[in-house]
Amino acid sequence: MTTPASPGTATAAMQARWDAVMMRNYGTPPIALSHGIGAHVWDVDGRDYLDLLGGIAVSSLGHAHPAIVDAVSKQVATLAHTSNLAMHEPGIALAERLAAMVPGGARVFLCQDGATANEAALKIVRKDMQGRRSEVVSTEGGFHGRTLGALSVTGTLAKRAPFEPLPGPVTFVPYADVEALRVAVTERTAAVILEPVQGEGGVVIPPVGYLAAAREICDSVGALLVVDEVQSGIGRAGEWLLSVAQGVVPDVITLAKGLGAGLPIGAVLATGDAALVLQPGDHGSTFGGNPVSCAAALAVLTTIEREGLLEHVRAVGDRWSAAFDAVDHPLLASHRGLGLWRALELSDPVAPAFETAARDSGFLVNAVRPTTIRLAPPLVLGVADADRFAAALPDLLAAVT
Ligand SMILES: Cc1ncc(COP(=O)(O)O)c(C=O)c1O
Repeated sequence: MTTPASPGTATAAMQARWDAVMMRNYGTPPIALSHGIGAHVWDVDGRDYLDLLGGIAVSSLGHAHPAIVDAVSKQVATLAHTSNLAMHEPGIALAERLAAMVPGGARVFLCQDGATANEAALKIVRKDMQGRRSEVVSTEGGFHGRTLGALSVTGTLAKRAPFEPLPGPVTFVPYADVEALRVAVTERTAAVILEPVQGEGGVVIPPVGYLAAAREICDSVGALLVVDEVQSGIGRAGEWLLSVAQGVVPDVITLAKGLGAGLPIGAVLATGDAALVLQPGDHGSTFGGNPVSCAAALAVLTTIEREGLLEHVRAVGDRWSAAFDAVDHPLLASHRGLGLWRALELSDPVAPAFETAARDSGFLVNAVRPTTIRLAPPLVLGVADADRFAAALPDLLAAVT
């Protein structure tokens, strides 16, 4: 048990039950949530928090957004599941909306989450090369999921090592290093997979032109470019797709997280020849793209558009950036980010203590690295709430100094 709650609380009782029955893979969470509205959540002991993590960049419309409640309620009361032996309107409509985000269009495979999106992407890569090329190039610090295929391209040795042998070969290069990518990508390379900004790596933003260089390097040897937009996509960085916003059209784009605003869904968008690689019998999923998740995702896209959330995300992100600039505290070494996807870089490895201090003060944040705090709040985060966190930041830093 990492952080035991105060004895006698509802949280402590749930921690004891969790410890008795759950596998140990997550450790014991310090908090048990009961409900939320907008960017606010409450725990089972009635304490309220400003949710600046959004279920790790998932709850894009916050909690209990009427558009999601309505879309999901109507869909589950109408048709919750069809199997992939039948079509349904929300699935086709969602695929149409996603395909239209890519210049020149795309074909879409709907799945459950980020890992299953990347598994499908890797199957496209593997089949496309038909054994002629097998090597994949990925990036150190990159994160693509926990299933065996997605794990094989995840750039943290500690995560991979207990599960080897994994599919391969995979070559890892330092992130944001164009020359390293150029050297690693050869005629043997089937694909390069990378994130436009590394999320789990700590909101690491590469230099301008990195993605375009990756596109050019892949083209020079005929390798596919797979861009993992599971965390960056659908508004998190103030754009529908960060790759497309940077003028790059990947062969494959993977999405998940914020797309369903809490309902499980992932999507693979494939362009050009890559769109036609998977043929009948090659891939599938019982639950992938089920009508309820698709209805939620459609509501997400419609709401982002109707409420002007891309502009809102950029504006509140800029406001945070200016406010963090004004914080003069030795523990805050720097900050970075795009839209509502931010990292506070601390000068000491006390991010876990900061996370705890923030929670004790009513803010949910994430110590994504020992020196890095990640903020990935709902896209609907209001200006007043954003300002409240910025105003509290000096005290939170002081609390862990
Ligand atoms: C960029 C990226 N890809 C893939 C994944 C895996 O997604 P999931 O946890 O939904 O399988 C994540 C999760 O954090 C991610 O950030």
